[in-house]
Amino acid sequence: MSETAASGSAGRKKRVLSGMRPTGTLHVGNLVGALDNWIPMQDDYDCYFAIVDWHALTTDYASPGSIRSYIEEMALDWLAAGLDPCRSTIFIQSAVKEHAELHLLLSMLVPLGWLYRVPTYKEQLRELSGKDLETYGFLGYPVLQAADILAYRAEIVPVGEDQVAHLELTREIARRFNSIYGAVFPLPEARLRPVARLPGVDGRKMSKSYGNAIGLNENLADMRKRIATMVTDPARRRRSDPGNPEVCPVFPFHKTFSTAEQIAWVDQGCRSAGIGCLECKGVMADNLAAHLEPIQARRAEYAAHPEQVREILGDGAQRARRQAAETLRGVRSAMGLE
Ligand code: TRP
Ligand code: SF4
Repeated sequence: MSETAASGSAGRKKRVLSGMRPTGTLHVGNLVGALDNWIPMQDDYDCYFAIVDWHALTTDYASPGSIRSYIEEMALDWLAAGLDPCRSTIFIQSAVKEHAELHLLLSMLVPLGWLYRVPTYKEQLRELSGKDLETYGFLGYPVLQAADILAYRAEIVPVGEDQVAHLELTREIARRFNSIYGAVFPLPEARLRPVARLPGVDGRKMSKSYGNAIGLNENLADMRKRIATMVTDPARRRRSDPGNPEVCPVFPFHKTFSTAEQIAWVDQGCRSAGIGCLECKGVMADNLAAHLEPIQARRAEYAAHPEQVREILGDGAQRARRQAAETLRGVRSAMGLE
């Protein structure tokens, strides 16, 4: 068999792992930013997708009550969006204890300096100043992430720009392990998603905490109302004022959900004041709604059968465990722990 981007020389599919913290329900930005990047990988790679609840605990340990329901919501969002349990291994991190064992073993060889130097560490300490994050677990967040990835000897990790430092650290850890104990881990590569991101309805970065996000499962009538009052190019104060779609937060949605003809119609009509913003937003809302409808329908179906979702996650955990257990046998043996 020939070597391709998706398979190594032995013809085995390359392994992909990614994860998300269950800290809230997903929004349209997560769909376009992350999930739409994962979904096509299922065809070509051996994919593992983890709901990383222990990572949620590193910041929310003092109020873990909502994590459980967020796990369920996240599983529904993933399945609704098109993660396919027949092709991918979908599981909850805490159901696979090998992640914890590998995290512990890796922690022995990770220099503290590497962790203090991770840019997101100090940043998050500052941003989440309402929480006491001067903890061992929070400092070790990237080691736990490295364990997630290395437990499957994953080769490709689809993530956003903000995760590059964590991936770099994972590679450093793998390199250090291999040089001390012998080659056990491949060095995983980040597969960065395209940067085109959807802004929130107020024009800032779409984020649940800003209250500007369009939820994946949002009522479509409410969604239309919020789009109607969405921020546009401030130059278009009156209907007769021409605008520039490139500075308007509505336009990225067109670029994502509208046809080429519609995008050209918006571009022209906006610059020439030939169309009104409400008209423009109406077309966008129609297209977004058409995109979300089948996702919401599938979500409702799964939500009506929680036992099915539990079974999917249970099967996923079993498959993940088998793989991770094999890695851990190799790790223990390399470290002389058998
Ligand atoms: N740190 C990642 C984030 O915040 C989540 C994550 C945890 C992850 N473990 C992972 C991502 C392993 C990729 C691979 O988005
Ligand atoms: Fe934005 Fe459309 Fe209005 Fe132009 S016409 S400013 S792209 S909403």
